[in-house]
Amino acid sequence: MTSIIPMPGTASTVERNVPKAHDRWMRIAGLALLVLAAACGDNLPAAPGGETLTDTNSDPNIVEVELVAAEGSHDYLPGKRADVWGFRDGARPGSKVTIPGPMLEGKLGDRVIVHFRNDLPEETTIHWHGIRLPHRHDGTPASQQPIPPGGTFDYEFSLVDAGLFWFHPHMRGDVQIERGLYAPLRVLADDGLDVAADRVFVLDDVKLASTGKLSDLTDSLDLMLGRQGNVIIVNGQSGRVVDAASGSRERWRFVNTANGRYFHLELPGYRFLVVGWDGGLVNTPYETERLLLAPGERYDVIVELTGAPGDRLTLRTVHYDRGHSIPDPGPIELLTVELGAEGAPSRALPATFGTVRPVVFDTATPRRRFILREDDSIPAAPVFTINDEAFPNITPVQASMGTEVWEILNESEMDHPFHLHGMSFQVLDDAGAPLAPLGWKDTFNVIRGTTRRFVVKIDAPGRWMYHCHILEHAERGMMGELEVAP
Ligand code: C2O
Ligand code: CU
Repeated sequence: MTSIIPMPGTASTVERNVPKAHDRWMRIAGLALLVLAAACGDNLPAAPGGETLTDTNSDPNIVEVELVAAEGSHDYLPGKRADVWGFRDGARPGSKVTIPGPMLEGKLGDRVIVHFRNDLPEETTIHWHGIRLPHRHDGTPASQQPIPPGGTFDYEFSLVDAGLFWFHPHMRGDVQIERGLYAPLRVLADDGLDVAADRVFVLDDVKLASTGKLSDLTDSLDLMLGRQGNVIIVNGQSGRVVDAASGSRERWRFVNTANGRYFHLELPGYRFLVVGWDGGLVNTPYETERLLLAPGERYDVIVELTGAPGDRLTLRTVHYDRGHSIPDPGPIELLTVELGAEGAPSRALPATFGTVRPVVFDTATPRRRFILREDDSIPAAPVFTINDEAFPNITPVQASMGTEVWEILNESEMDHPFHLHGMSFQVLDDAGAPLAPLGWKDTFNVIRGTTRRFVVKIDAPGRWMYHCHILEHAERGMMGELEVAP
C-alpha cells in the first residue's frame, strides 16, 4: 500500500495555466517519484510511535518529563534510512528519536515540568502550540534566549484547557520542524465521551529523494506555497493499518504538522462528528463528510464504525484549492481502518459538550487590522508581509489587557492559516456574530481575498508571536509580535 502522491506533470491532471517553473518542478518531482518504493502497513498505536514521555514525578497532579532534541534516523519508507532531527524521551536510557516525537500527556489542571536539552548542532526553542501559559515559557525568541547546542531549559506551565495541542521549535521552523521536530500534546479531561479508542493522528508530509532520505532541494514553489512533500505520513509512516472493532465508537484527534500542506479529510461512507476544535470541545457537535485542516490546526471527532467485520475503510485527503492554481493530485490515501469482530456498544453521548461562553464585545471594542500580502516578483525570494512589514524587521504591536476585535485582511493570492500565541480567540462569521458552534481557535485559515474577524480576549502579559502557520511564509516575513502590557 502506498501514500505516494501521484504528481501532476506525469499525469493528465496538469492545469493549463500553471507557471513555467512549476511545470518544470513537477516533472523533476515526478521522475523522482517513479523510483520510490511503496510503504507497507502496520498497526497504529493510540500514541504515535507507541510512546508517551515518561512522567518521573510521583505526584499524580504533576507531569515531569525529560525531553531531548537530537539527531537520529527514521525509515519513512521501509528499509530506507533517513537522517532526521527529532525528540526523544530523556528519562529512558538509550531511547532513540521518533517521528513524531513522544507524546506529552497530562490531565486538565496538571502542572507540567519539561526539562529540555538541546543536542542539536544549532540553537532552538520549544513552543507549546495552543497552550495558554506564562509568556516566559512560550518558547520563542521573543520570550527567551535561544538554547545553544548542549544547552538546557526548564519549561513549566499548567494545563488549563483539555484537547489536542502540539509542540515544536520556534527557530528556523521551516527547517527544524520539517526535519522531524514535532510531537503531540494531549490533555485529557473527564468529558463523559465513552469511546472504544481515543487516537491521535499526526498528519504530515515529507519530500523524499529516491534514496528515502529527506530531500534538501527547496525550490521556489516550496517557498511560495510552503513545502509540499511527495510522501504523506500519519504518525511518521505511510500506508498504516488501524484495527478497530466493528460497531464501535472511536475518537480521533487530528493535528496538521505539515509545513504547507492542507489536509481535506474524508472517510467515504462515514461522517465525522466534530466535537472539538483547537482549544477544546465545542458547545454543539456537528456532522461533516469532509474536514479541512490547515497547517497548525486540530480537530477532535467521533466516528461511529458501523461497518461489518472485514470491512476496510480508507481515510483519505482530497483536493482543496488554496490558491495559485495548486493542481489537484486526486484523492490520496492516508490510512486503512480494518474492522474486526464486533465490539461492545458505547454509552450514549453526553447531552452537553463544551461550555464556551461568548467573549462579549460591541462597537466600542477596539479593532485592530492585519493585512496579509505576498510579493513574488522575485520567485526565488518571495516575501510575505503583515501590514507591509516582514519579520524580523517589524514594529511590535502594543496592546493592553482587554478585549479586541482583530480583522485579518488577506489581500494575497493564497490562503494563510493565522496563528496567535498565548491566547485563543473566537471567530466571527461574516455578519459579525460568533461562528457557530461556539469554540476556541488559535489557528484559523483566512481564505485569499477575504477578511476574517476574531474576537480576542487579551489576558496574558508578555511578548507573543502571531504568524501564518505555513512555515515558509512565517520564516519569510509573515510573522509579528504582540506586546501586552501587564
Ligand atoms: Cu505552531 Cu508560532 O507556532
Ligand atoms: Cu501563509
